[in-house]
Amino acid sequence: MSSVVLFSSANKQGNTAQVVQALAQQVSLKVINLDELSITPYNYANQYPQDDFYPLVETLLSADNIIFASPIYWHCPTAQMKAFMDRMTELLDVSHLKPKARALANKRGFIISSSAQAEVCPIFESIFAKMYRYYDMSYQGNLHGDFSSGQANIDSNALLKFAQQLDAAKRPCNNATSITSI
Ligand SMILES: Cc1cc2nc3c(=O)[nH]c(=O)nc-3n(C[C@H](O)[C@H](O)[C@H](O)COP(=O)(O)O)c2cc1C
Repeated sequence: MSSVVLFSSANKQGNTAQVVQALAQQVSLKVINLDELSITPYNYANQYPQDDFYPLVETLLSADNIIFASPIYWHCPTAQMKAFMDRMTELLDVSHLKPKARALANKRGFIISSSAQAEVCPIFESIFAKMYRYYDMSYQGNLHGDFSSGQANIDSNALLKFAQQLDAAKRPCNNATSITSI
């Protein structure tokens, strides 16, 4: 099972990066820093200069597991990550790209988060769970880092379970591990 992490944070080596690094010690990951890519914001005309969006889509399509990794900023992912999520709408808008949106349906979606709370913010989690559902991907769960004390607090059982999920044989799953209601 191949896993791609789409990472974004105002701090490249900050708290969210620590959670990603902890996971990378357990399981093989391809980590892509969205902040180092050029992703033109979505526009209704779907006219874009050459940028990194289409190659990134191909990378996602080559993976079994897609993991969005972001700190929780005001209950949301980073602005760069949201810009990428908005741009994904192009796959639904433009007829020759629609097969790529449909190809995402076989993928499994995960989230990595970090915040100053013990648990992932339900608003943050529901943004991704709903996005995955829109693409008919199966949302599998969240790995959260609690930095409320200023130090990393990553539940070691949750970390191992998350790593095992990434390596588990692909099977349909509509039950997320931590989402409560959307
Ligand atoms: C702009 C901003 C907004 C934040 N909003 C929240 C929030 O809504 N809820 C929360 O628990 N923590 C919030 N925090 C704290 C961060 O989520 C937390 O420090 C996180 O671990 C930072 O990760 P990073 O080092 O990858 O940026 C916020 C921090 C910043 C800088």
